[in-house]
Amino acid sequence: MVDNAKRREFMRMGGMCAAAVIGSSFVACGDSNKSDSSANDSNANISKSSESSAKDSNDLPTNSTNLNGVLGETYTLSNGVKIPKLGLGLWRIDNDKVPSVISEAIKVGYRHFDSAQAYENEVGTGEGVKNAIKGGLKREEIFVTTKIRAEHKTYDSATKSIDESLGKLGLDFIDLMLIHSPQPWNDFRGGDYSQGNIEAWRALEDAHKAGKIRAIGVSNFLQKDLENIFANCTIKPMANQILTHIGNTPFDLIAYCKAQGLVVEAYSPIAHGELLRDERIQKMAQKYGVSAPQLCIRYALEIGTIPLPKSANPAHIASNAQVDFAISEADLEELKKMRFKDYGEHSYFPVFSGK
Ligand SMILES: NC(=O)c1ccc[n+]([C@@H]2O[C@H](COP(=O)([O-])OP(=O)(O)OC[C@H]3O[C@@H](n4cnc5c(N)ncnc54)[C@H](OP(=O)(O)O)[C@@H]3O)[C@@H](O)[C@H]2O)c1
Repeated sequence: MVDNAKRREFMRMGGMCAAAVIGSSFVACGDSNKSDSSANDSNANISKSSESSAKDSNDLPTNSTNLNGVLGETYTLSNGVKIPKLGLGLWRIDNDKVPSVISEAIKVGYRHFDSAQAYENEVGTGEGVKNAIKGGLKREEIFVTTKIRAEHKTYDSATKSIDESLGKLGLDFIDLMLIHSPQPWNDFRGGDYSQGNIEAWRALEDAHKAGKIRAIGVSNFLQKDLENIFANCTIKPMANQILTHIGNTPFDLIAYCKAQGLVVEAYSPIAHGELLRDERIQKMAQKYGVSAPQLCIRYALEIGTIPLPKSANPAHIASNAQVDFAISEADLEELKKMRFKDYGEHSYFPVFSGK
């Protein structure tokens, strides 16, 4: 599938840089020739691949990098691994549908897919990626995220689940793997699972060091959950995937993550679809001549997060990537002040329960 020498070099990029974060002091290990690699700069790990590719000797060979607009842009994680700025969410897409959804998205230019053990669609995700490779893409051009089930809070169960994910995906490596939640779902924002999270994190560190995962991170982690990991890790998390959309944006947590060198991924950027009904969003979208989802996705980009809109509809998948417009400062301020936390019939999901 991937030529062995290239694969070794590819994994080495993540692995070598991981060594730079071992110990208590964190070293942002991005491109040494970039001036944006300071860990104290909130935009430290932001880069446009289109800007950096010519001068970045670590760049991977690709054959699909003529992607337009946001689809061709990346952030650089603290270990030097590049992550596309827009991803496709795969939650609630059935295993057997995922390959065709990925195929539609690949045609549009998406290269970043967000799955999870809990979505029960890793097999379909892997199939979609392998089909894209058969179609001419290189594995290195596609970014695959999956997540350890929130319930795995021991080293052994987390480790076993990582290997199971690799088996289901049928891929040689995972690009980014996250701890799905600091608590099991039936106790979301409840009890103290700090020891369990340390164990799950150690499982991710070991899989990363073994070359099974290029980058590692967390999801739904609050500042106190991150502090627990920072105090007990040898490798700092590189990303935190959190609920972020117009009306419900955890600005303080996002600022904290960025200050700590983590890239923030915005999940449910359209509030699981609920924001489409909001008249304020519809009105502002009209002003820009865009759709409500496009405004929501652009907002997530404007605040420096990676939006992961989910869609299984080819027309939506395509239009959600057409977000190369700018929201004015005044309108962005208005959007930041909005409050929207009504997930209607979806409020039974722990992440939409308001906890
Ligand atoms: N880490 C976590 O705990 C966590 C939690 C939730 C979500 N996530 C991730 O974030 C992703 C996105 O979140 P989400 O699935 O909750 O919701 P979302 O992306 O905020 O919204 C998805 C909904 O919006 C609709 N939609 C999307 N684009 C549209 C368009 N252009 N026009 C009309 N409707 C459109 C979709 O329907 P169609 O399919 O019909 O287009 C779907 O009903 C998930 O798939 C998952 O990967 C992670």
